[in-house]
Amino acid sequence: MNILSPSILSADFTKLGEEIETIDNAGAEYIHVDVMDGMFVPSISYGMPVIKSIRKSTGKVFDVHLMISEPIRYIADFAASGADMITVHVEACSDVVATIEKIREYKLKVGITLNPDTPVSAIKPYLNRVDMVLIMSVNPGFGGQKFITSSVDKIKEVKRLRDELNLSYDIEVDGGINIDNLATVLEAGANVIVAGSAIFRGDAAENVKKFKSIMSV
Ligand code: DX5
Ligand code: ZN
Repeated sequence: MNILSPSILSADFTKLGEEIETIDNAGAEYIHVDVMDGMFVPSISYGMPVIKSIRKSTGKVFDVHLMISEPIRYIADFAASGADMITVHVEACSDVVATIEKIREYKLKVGITLNPDTPVSAIKPYLNRVDMVLIMSVNPGFGGQKFITSSVDKIKEVKRLRDELNLSYDIEVDGGINIDNLATVLEAGANVIVAGSAIFRGDAAENVKKFKSIMSV
């Protein structure tokens, strides 16, 4: 099943609750929550208190993307704030298996991700332990960047590995996705689509509907 996960990093924070209700009512399945620490990535976004407060505005799945160093330190806090699934960067964890197990302790779904310059071989040892693989199609840190086209081959590679290893993880793509490149990433094998600026720039409800109409073909 194809799933749309709008990134609220590009939402208007003065009315975040309303923005979330809009995309929820328009049919987005997940809410993508980007957490940045100013260490693993150059920017700082938001953390637990924000997640906890927006938890009241929607029952949709919170797809929490942690762009933070040693995320194992904060899994308990993100679980308590209302995360449903937590995705961690392979580059950010000194012990990836322990981090995955920590997320499982809280009965949350687990995602693993990698930067555009990191080869798929870096996550291969963990593929049998995760529910989702996130292919970053921009360097993490900011919304509104240009899609890196070599990500399409990485999507195909994790799809091929899924077949080869007889696994069933979802494949998510994040960064620079818009109406024009959406079909390409879907064809390559992505089924969870993150989009920030392409959803929240302009009419968010309309944009969700446009995305969903392409995703349901
Ligand atoms: C980048 C974030 C993305 C970002 C996507 O560091 O992980 O989720 O918000 O934004 P767009 O769709 O504008 O590239
Ligand atoms: Zn993200």
